Amino acid sequence: MIPKETVNQIIETARIDEVVGEWVNLKKRGANMLGLCPFHNEKSPSFTVSPAKGIYKCFGCGEAGGSVNFIMAHEQYTFPEALRYLANKYNIEIEEEEQTPEQVLEANAKESLFLVSEFAANYFNDQLLNSENGRAIGLSYFKERGFREETIEKFKLGYSHDEWTNFTDAALKNGYKLDFLNQTGLTIVKEEKKFDRFKGRVMFPIQNISGRVIGFGGRTLTADKKVAKYLNSPESDIYHKSRVLYGLNLAKKSIISNDRCFLVEGYTDVISLHQNGVENVVSSSGTSLTTDQIRLIKRYTQNITILFDGDTAGIKAAFRGIDMILEEGLNVRVLAFADGEDPDSFAKKHSTSEITEYLDKESFDFIRFKTNLLLEETGNDPIKRAGLIKEIVSSIALIPDPIARSVYLQECSNLMEIDEQALLSELNKVRRNKLSKQIQQQEREQNEGPPPDFFYNIDTPEETSNKTTIDVLAEQESDIIRTFVKYGTIEIEIPTEATEGDEEELIKASVAEYLVYEIEKDELRFSNPVYLKIYNFFKDAVENEKPIEEKHLVTNEDKEISSFTIECLMEKYTLSLNWEEKHKILTLTEDLILPKKIHKGICSWRLNKVEQLIGSKQEELKAKDVDYDSILNDIMKLMEAKKKLAHELGRIILH
Ligand code: CTP
Ligand code: MN
Repeated sequence: MIPKETVNQIIETARIDEVVGEWVNLKKRGANMLGLCPFHNEKSPSFTVSPAKGIYKCFGCGEAGGSVNFIMAHEQYTFPEALRYLANKYNIEIEEEEQTPEQVLEANAKESLFLVSEFAANYFNDQLLNSENGRAIGLSYFKERGFREETIEKFKLGYSHDEWTNFTDAALKNGYKLDFLNQTGLTIVKEEKKFDRFKGRVMFPIQNISGRVIGFGGRTLTADKKVAKYLNSPESDIYHKSRVLYGLNLAKKSIISNDRCFLVEGYTDVISLHQNGVENVVSSSGTSLTTDQIRLIKRYTQNITILFDGDTAGIKAAFRGIDMILEEGLNVRVLAFADGEDPDSFAKKHSTSEITEYLDKESFDFIRFKTNLLLEETGNDPIKRAGLIKEIVSSIALIPDPIARSVYLQECSNLMEIDEQALLSELNKVRRNKLSKQIQQQEREQNEGPPPDFFYNIDTPEETSNKTTIDVLAEQESDIIRTFVKYGTIEIEIPTEATEGDEEELIKASVAEYLVYEIEKDELRFSNPVYLKIYNFFKDAVENEKPIEEKHLVTNEDKEISSFTIECLMEKYTLSLNWEEKHKILTLTEDLILPKKIHKGICSWRLNKVEQLIGSKQEELKAKDVDYDSILNDIMKLMEAKKKLAHELGRIILH
């Protein structure tokens, strides 16, 4: 564990221009520096580094972050790995937090699991290539499947003898403890007996991103239907199926350079495609696709193509996969292979260029894919058709980015020949339901149940402007957080509330202080978890009188926080950058109108919340057996507050 203070020290010391400068030739351009992006191919530079803000952003591919993020992305390191790298570069000593004896044991135990797995992979590989049975049975099987020697080496394929304890004996003889053989599942221990889990199978080692072996898949060589075709390692302290993608360690470079990842079903699909020149391919072997796996891919690309055989089970899995990928904000295409064919068999029959062309031409974006497939079933039956539309819209509703959503909505409207407005209203319905569920869930988790009436309006279909109260609320929250990030440290003058007899006077405070004060005063709460986290960061700084270091947001382990912060900072920075010399006036204006803008933001947020409350109180009145007087009294008070706020807002806007 790296202590928090050291983490902060590293983040504060590692200068972005120096860190990036090791790989990118940076040229000064105003207050910024510019170079060719190391994350995508480009001829003219759009990779911008801001030393002042400690961030980089590529305006070509969108990759952005602080020093630590750069190392993570460029070297494909984890967060702690990147920190260690930078600590080393800047001679910062990492005094590891004192580990308890249990922690030491645990760390050692984990290392032992890695070591025993590595031994196993080497052993199986050696037996495949050098033992008589290994060659006669295992190697000839792989050869028959068309795997070349170098492919076998690349994937470290192996063979486990058809004997009860051949592997276990070898491991014990080499000093590996039975306990770790048991924990990795390589040996099955039952009372006094022990035997090899993968007896008589060809072996596919599963590696983590840094290439360490963490588990195995073993394929039977018998055609006996009663024997499971594949056996996989059980979960262990180093092998978590849901967080691993087979082949990712070998694919990551190619995924980045092709800006696309192919997702296939099996080990052999990955291997065959590799052997035939397509290396940006992974498989979620042994489990159905998980969100964690999609996030792994997201580190390297925004584009996934699912390849699968077109049987019913495959289609079902693909549908599920599509929705999960969309929900993570990635683009997804789909390719269904014709009867009996799979990526493995297809790759074998074709050249690299034929394969890449096929993958490109025959894959469809998810809407077209769903539509084509479902239209076959529904034909012209209007009811089924309506069902199909709902099905597609519910997928579109999952996409987080509003622009992408509307593009897909348009496509769906064209394809299905249905009015876009009708689709939009269906989409909003789905999203509203989802949002309100999310917010409820979140509030529940925060353990301070909201007044149930908080959700009033969510289900009232007032579609006058297509903007729901929730949408508006989200925008208002986003505005306020942007103000925090962009202007948090700026000093402004705020009029105090004039109490009776007193004159209104001006006090100085930072934007962050002022906002925190206002927000806490009314107990306004952020419903979006990312905003909430960013807000808590500022609140913590203000309340504990700590300096505000945006770098800690930029270099946040939570990618969403980091991207949002960078977006805000870049907005501010490019603005002042582009206009700095010629148009100083513009930024000046922004700062001048700041207090007004902030005041307005807070007021509209409050107003919106008050309106919601009024709505819900009115709703309460409709129920039987309620205390009318008290509710009416509440409503009157809220109305009064609303009037004041509206007046206040009007005053600000007119000013
Ligand atoms: N799988 C599994 N257990 C099984 C069958 C399949 O874990 N009993 C997983 C394996 O990861 C396998 C993937 O599901 O790679 C796809 O299964 P399948 O298409 O049946 O296997 P292939 O990889 O195509 O293997 P082969 O080409 O050798 O038949
Ligand atoms: Mn296959």
